[in-house]
Amino acid sequence: MKESTEPELETLLELARKAAENSYSPYSEFRVGAALRLTNGETVTGTNVENVSYGLTICAERAAVVRAISQFGPKIRIAAVAVVNLNGKASPPCGACRQVLAEFIEPNAPVIFPIAEGTRTMIFSELLPLGSEMKLK
Ligand code: THU
Repeated sequence: MKESTEPELETLLELARKAAENSYSPYSEFRVGAALRLTNGETVTGTNVENVSYGLTICAERAAVVRAISQFGPKIRIAAVAVVNLNGKASPPCGACRQVLAEFIEPNAPVIFPIAEGTRTMIFSELLPLGSEMKLK
């Protein structure tokens, strides 16, 4: 059974899909797009940018976060995230992206991503429990 998706997340999925068209992924040929809805109402997208070193590859989710801060400053908060790939495969956000999202995302924000059978929506705190518990000061 296909999970029903809120219109707001459908819109974000569509923006993520458009961003994935710009993917620079000559090594994996895995084309990913991410879209963030910010609490200020703005949306920001990103795509994966690979590197011949492999290790310097930037995922779509982190590209979107970097873009959001660059455009709207360090106080942004993320209210929802959508991830898409054009390869028809599952792609939940990787661990590195979850850790970077944790810095800016509301713990109850929905994150929608492709799974084998379609899409799945989880709230961020399920994807990264204790994600905002580390305190340096
Ligand atoms: N990738 C993303 O951009 N986001 C994900 O959620 C999954 C993985 C990228 C990194 C790399 O360019 C390619 O997909 C294969 O891992």
